[in-house]
Amino acid sequence: MEISFISPFCNLIEKFTSISMLHRANQKGIVQYNFFDLFSFSDDPNNRIDDSPYGGGDGMILKAQPIYNAYKKVIDQYPSKARVIYPTPDGEMLSTAISKNLSKEDNLIFICGHYKGIDQRIRDDIVTDEISIGDYILTGGELPACVIADSIVRLVPGVLNSIESAKTDSFYDGLLDCPHYTRPEEYNGLKVPKVLISGNHRKIEEWKMNEKVKKTKFKRPDLYKKYIESKNQKVD
Ligand code: ADE
Repeated sequence: MEISFISPFCNLIEKFTSISMLHRANQKGIVQYNFFDLFSFSDDPNNRIDDSPYGGGDGMILKAQPIYNAYKKVIDQYPSKARVIYPTPDGEMLSTAISKNLSKEDNLIFICGHYKGIDQRIRDDIVTDEISIGDYILTGGELPACVIADSIVRLVPGVLNSIESAKTDSFYDGLLDCPHYTRPEEYNGLKVPKVLISGNHRKIEEWKMNEKVKKTKFKRPDLYKKYIESKNQKVD
């Protein structure tokens, strides 16, 4: 998988992709990261990449031309069909379903916005996926791009040592994850649930599922409702 980032602050993303699991994905030869510095694609004599909005208003807008030039360069270099992702607070909320879907692609391009955002014509012309990571505003699209890329890359086959582990993560099956414990059996007077050290695998699996359902019902009634509906059961 090729993942290309178009951004005025590529070094932020480069750092992120050079550590931990995203780095491992690259070391294993499964994912390749490419960086395109937006400033290098400006035609402006003063190297400007932003300008004030038509119609007035506060804030600056990233100009269409440098983004389009950078996009053309990415496409020239990596010509296979690409999904072009624009992280934006007015996009579709990121979910495991979106990440799973994108993890099947060969070519992803992230466009990182700044200030008041990017010229709408880029969104209309080349962006295929507009994704939000939550109902709050960040300074730029770099952190959301890292978050989205992280959630995608860990689902690409071969990246995690055990994909089975990802399958038990929160949200994978529509439920929150169950509590987890490790040694010692007692910490500050708090004991590990007995069933987990019973060696009875059927009972352990039952306990885990029960805890997942209980936690989801308590913490995320919205998810619980969907889960129950998907099982065609009545919500109590
Ligand atoms: N850019 C700024 N804030 C964002 C958010 N919450 N999600 C995605 N992109 C963003």
